[in-house]
Amino acid sequence: MTNHDEFWSRKQSAAVLKHAVLKNYLIPFTMMTAGANSKFQAWFVDGYAGPGQYAPEEGGDSEGQDGSPAVALGVARFVASRTPPRRLRCVFIEQDKDHVRSLEGFVSHHKDVRARVIHGAVQSELAGVVGEMGADPALTFLDPYGTALPYDLMRRSVLARMAPKNEVLLNLHVTSLSRIGGILGRGENLTSADSRTLQRLDAFLGQDEWREVFLGTFRKSVEGSATAAALEVASHFRAKVKKDTGYDSFAVDVRRAEGHVPLFQLTLFYRSGYAAYKFADASSLGHAKWREFNMRAEARRNGVMYADALLGEDYTEEAFEEQFAHDEKALRERLCNDVARNIRVLLRSRAELSLSRDSDIKAIYGDALGLAGEKHLRAAWDRLAANGVALRRDPAQKMQHARIVRAESPAS
Ligand SMILES: C[S@@+](CC[C@H](N)C(=O)[O-])C[C@H]1O[C@@H](n2cnc3c(N)ncnc32)[C@H](O)[C@@H]1O
Repeated sequence: MTNHDEFWSRKQSAAVLKHAVLKNYLIPFTMMTAGANSKFQAWFVDGYAGPGQYAPEEGGDSEGQDGSPAVALGVARFVASRTPPRRLRCVFIEQDKDHVRSLEGFVSHHKDVRARVIHGAVQSELAGVVGEMGADPALTFLDPYGTALPYDLMRRSVLARMAPKNEVLLNLHVTSLSRIGGILGRGENLTSADSRTLQRLDAFLGQDEWREVFLGTFRKSVEGSATAAALEVASHFRAKVKKDTGYDSFAVDVRRAEGHVPLFQLTLFYRSGYAAYKFADASSLGHAKWREFNMRAEARRNGVMYADALLGEDYTEEAFEEQFAHDEKALRERLCNDVARNIRVLLRSRAELSLSRDSDIKAIYGDALGLAGEKHLRAAWDRLAANGVALRRDPAQKMQHARIVRAESPAS
């Protein structure tokens, strides 16, 4: 079994987070962007689609877990049921013929939504799909293995679209950046295979300046230094995209478990103000799902029992849920406090903060960015209003359009 086969055979916790963030972002993206155009239509293009669903675990789910195409089809069905119905047109591009076969079978069971499978390489197929989309809103998901995607493909096709609502979600492999950067960090003569690997990363990042960035942080034999250097490279890459295209970005660290190094950064590129607000919330909701998945997996793995003394049972769903709800409540309180503190500090020098401004959203969440979302922000705002720090929010107004206004006039 290769690593890739293994990837598909079992849903990893990192994939749980990736798909939960995707689902929780694709819903508001489609509702808002398709709701604002006369066709009520948006597109989801999955450039590296995979087979659609994970293979079922032995003795586990009979259907297998959702891959990104299954997530997208679920969203397409959901938005079609809203009033007015929105249409999410899905295009799945996949190179591997077995995955294509599986995808086609999967899509054929979802005749109620408009989805198409393209068997081919994203490098040759994407431009045609971009042409077909016209000026419709679109979210393009690029989820390659490692660093296989050439930067120019992203820059000159999807990010060059003139459509006003155009976003790209890139799953950026931090582990590949740190592994390949480590080749440079060895400080030995490079083999020709090493040089080819480094050049592939040059093509993925669209420059070779990353080498200097990596070496500026990397310290040989220092634990965690390759990951820290890879994260610097990722941040430099996002700044390059901003410079080349004007797109802002938001990176969500995807880890196996709390305290682990990030394996990926699920990175959204966008121009609309609401995107950072909605993506932060999608990340927050995704993390809650991921924490539950991890806690359940750990309970099973270690035989940790959520004992129910009354029933004399080792593990009950009720006992698990009670413990999970207890942990989540404590975390919610901590995140609300963090967000309230950030807003309080920001309002000392600013008369108001806009929730549709990228830099304001990132400053409001601060270190809690990615974990805290709308419910924490609402609670923090209400608390600050009760304490006379900010004006009350208008519950009828959509949060992504709101401004948090300082209650008192600046001290004279
Ligand atoms: C990481 S997996 C995708 C996972 C999927 N997005 C999900 O979340 O369920 C990458 C997929 O891209 C496919 N692939 C690799 N190179 C490709 C290319 N150049 N064009 C299209 N698909 C490609 C692989 O066969 C594999 O199925």
